[in-house]
Amino acid sequence: MSDRYQGFVSTPIGQLFVKNLGLPNPTELERWSDGAPLVDGVVVLGGDGRLAEVLPTTLDGLGIASTGELEEGARAKALVFDATGITDTAGLVALQEFFTPLMRRLETCPRVVVLGTPPETLTGSERIAQRALEGFTRSLGKEIGRGGAVQLVYVAPAADGATSSTLAFLLSPKSAYVSGQVVRIGAHGPTATDQVDDWTRPLAGKVALVTGASRGIGEEIARVLHRDGATVVGVDVPQAASELQTLMTELDGDHLVLDITAKDAPQRIAHHLREHHGGVDVVVHNAGITRDKKLANMAEDRWSSVIAVNLTAPELITRELLDSGVINAGGRIVGVASIAGIAGNVGQTNYATSKAGVIGFVESLRDELDNGITVNAVAPGFIITQMTAAVPFATREVGQRLNAMSQGGLPVDVAETIAWFASTGSGAVNGNVVRVCGQMMLGA
Ligand SMILES: NC(=O)c1ccc[n+]([C@@H]2O[C@H](COP(=O)([O-])OP(=O)(O)OC[C@H]3O[C@@H](n4cnc5c(N)ncnc54)[C@H](O)[C@@H]3O)[C@@H](O)[C@H]2O)c1
Repeated sequence: MSDRYQGFVSTPIGQLFVKNLGLPNPTELERWSDGAPLVDGVVVLGGDGRLAEVLPTTLDGLGIASTGELEEGARAKALVFDATGITDTAGLVALQEFFTPLMRRLETCPRVVVLGTPPETLTGSERIAQRALEGFTRSLGKEIGRGGAVQLVYVAPAADGATSSTLAFLLSPKSAYVSGQVVRIGAHGPTATDQVDDWTRPLAGKVALVTGASRGIGEEIARVLHRDGATVVGVDVPQAASELQTLMTELDGDHLVLDITAKDAPQRIAHHLREHHGGVDVVVHNAGITRDKKLANMAEDRWSSVIAVNLTAPELITRELLDSGVINAGGRIVGVASIAGIAGNVGQTNYATSKAGVIGFVESLRDELDNGITVNAVAPGFIITQMTAAVPFATREVGQRLNAMSQGGLPVDVAETIAWFASTGSGAVNGNVVRVCGQMMLGA
């Protein structure tokens, strides 16, 4: 399931085609490997809001070197701009003053993070100026190029001391395929601090349930959560039992073979987690199916099966785990939505309904949860898996190129985003739906 186009354009003859025909020229994205530094280079800090003073210490705690001024001739790996001090529209020029001189001084796959205050908590000129930041980051994401990514993080004042896990993710290659996103931290529910003893194993001692874990994105989620220290309990259907068992044995985890749409599935999962693991800390609703047809040809079973697996099962399982107290304090619930649930897609009325419903699931739960439990979702764009290998060639090619990075993402990109939500340090990260789509042109 490799990207043959990307392979071709990286050859000398391919580069000739790219140059002469104006074809997309994807940069090979950097991805994080265990043991590597979070940022391989220098982070330049700018802006003078309420976070500017604590930022160097926060980054230092993550082993990330930062500076206020880039040395002559040096290049920056990442830029972080504290825009929380911008209180009116005239002040927005500070963005241009900081970024313009640095744009030609970036390394490959650079990361940019702008920090703001959630506009909905403000009034008047300050609210207008803070809302304006979104246009800046979304546009910069589309023009930065060379595998770069740009995000806006709205930090509620109560979460000023809880930015570490989010910066660790967004400044590192863990967020390789995430760009143009607006993240809110501390905006929903009480705010925890992000104290983590060991940032390389933020899930040490935790138990993580992953549905649909035998292959594709689910397999990679299991691998990454295991890498981060969790004991993974993988769930999949009987047809996938042997792959599931092999993988969970490799990861020193546990497995449960069942169809998540079975009537007794929520109770069986809750019982297993309570009896064998004393509860669960991370719940990832990854299992999903597609049964594409235009609505005019949609049989009832295609509609019902997609809604049942992708939406109703996550809802009922979560309800049972919460009601029976199986989710431990500080638990993390993560849904897997899709770009189709945001932008819609031909032939996917059933699938897009289910995935928009996953966003509704996050919105309905985020203010209701207590005990430090959070809920967030990822919305993958085009991720290269067996699911997308089934898409016809031409559609697949277009689907892969229609984003700011001109390439499809990998399962690990979705998994790393989920690991950020799951981290013990992400107590303030609640109620977000983050797209893992290379900033796809579809949708917002
Ligand atoms: N691949 C993409 O580009 C993409 C894009 C957007 C969203 N997604 C979502 O990501 C998730 C994983 O997708 P993938 O590409 O890895 O798919 P996949 O088909 O490779 O894997 C899905 C897994 O879920 C399991 N599963 C299906 N129905 C189940 C059930 N009733 N009970 C238990 N397990 C069940 C399957 O056996 C399989 O192991 C899905 O929710 C999908 O909708 C994928």
